[in-house]
Amino acid sequence: MTETVTVGIPKPVHYSPDLESLQPDERETENGLNDAFNTILERTSGDYGHAVRSVHAKAHGILKGVMSVRGDLPQELAQGLFEHSKDHPVYLRISTNAGDILPDAVSLPRGLAIKVLDVDGNRLPDAEGRNQDFIMVNGPVFQSKTAKQFLGNLKMLAKTTDRMEGTKTVMSSVLQTVNDTLEAVGVASPKIQSLGGAPNVNPLGETYFSVTPFRYGEYVAKFRLKPVSQDLTALTGKKIDVSVSEDAIRETIQAEMQTVDAAWEFQVQLCRDIDRQPIEDPTVEWSEEEAPFVTVATIRAGPQDSWSADKVQRVDEEMRFSVWTGLSAHRPLGNINRARKAAYQHSSDFRQNFNRCPIHEP
Ligand code: HEM
Repeated sequence: MTETVTVGIPKPVHYSPDLESLQPDERETENGLNDAFNTILERTSGDYGHAVRSVHAKAHGILKGVMSVRGDLPQELAQGLFEHSKDHPVYLRISTNAGDILPDAVSLPRGLAIKVLDVDGNRLPDAEGRNQDFIMVNGPVFQSKTAKQFLGNLKMLAKTTDRMEGTKTVMSSVLQTVNDTLEAVGVASPKIQSLGGAPNVNPLGETYFSVTPFRYGEYVAKFRLKPVSQDLTALTGKKIDVSVSEDAIRETIQAEMQTVDAAWEFQVQLCRDIDRQPIEDPTVEWSEEEAPFVTVATIRAGPQDSWSADKVQRVDEEMRFSVWTGLSAHRPLGNINRARKAAYQHSSDFRQNFNRCPIHEP
């Protein structure tokens, strides 16, 4: 196997369990998160008569595709799922991050969940099935440094769930104008975007980031999914007219996916300096100059019905995506990732019980 040529760039940091530093009150925070999620889940399921995800409740599209792992990867990139060149079926779920189903005029960060099927190797604790999930959003950083800080924000959010829909819509359009103005002077704010000021652009053209780090076999990495086919890059930054319908994004994607040939590169950013690319703080962006992204696989999804009843039932209703569903070789790292294990399980258990619909790995 060849070595990666990264002139002037330090060698990747070797994975070891002591790269993580556990806090004494993590269990207490996890319980607090589940209490706050219960407030959201009980309110939304009561209102809709149906349980939805406690975050990223609204899906805009569900795609089926194929991930092709590259065959020419050097040793440091041929790790875990990416050790062997292979084609894997994948499901993709595109979402917006609120825990309630809001009109698309409320513009919040977007999510992209990926389920890679038929993956062999030692599994993470409690990980069912043979799949590897990757969960991403369309920005490189998380707004909270720790799960405890996230809990503080979540408690506030839980109080406004499913209330003041009109106010949220108006606030969002005001914040979008504020954000556009900030962007014009080069200082777009993730905080404002997380409150509804994100530009209402087509999710098919966006680049998605894991935000938090993961074990990458012998090393440590963050992940990114970047649109590369011309059909997708033509949609990058293209605004959707959300005044025509509450579900304008879903309808636009459904119309476009009749003909769009979608291809993304799945990229890996190896940690090369534990101080400059920290494990425990996802508010810090890992600089691309110091830790470049490298493509390890391609995901393709051909023209299809992105909102077919069958896919909605199978993916939106009967599946859970969690960073803890996967290989030990891709163990989620850091305080935020540790807190996600119980939270994702709790939210999907609630959906399973309320909807009397078993959730399972395909
Ligand atoms: C302490 C931090 C976090 C907590 C407690 C949390 C909690 C949750 C929960 C409970 C769900 C719904 C699970 C379900 O019902 O199936 C969810 C979904 C999701 N989360 Fe997080 N999350 C956290 C951090 C993050 C981060 C850092 C990202 C950035 C990549 C992220 C992106 C997403 C996405 C995209 C989904 C939707 C997954 C799907 O389509 O099913 N979350 N989160």
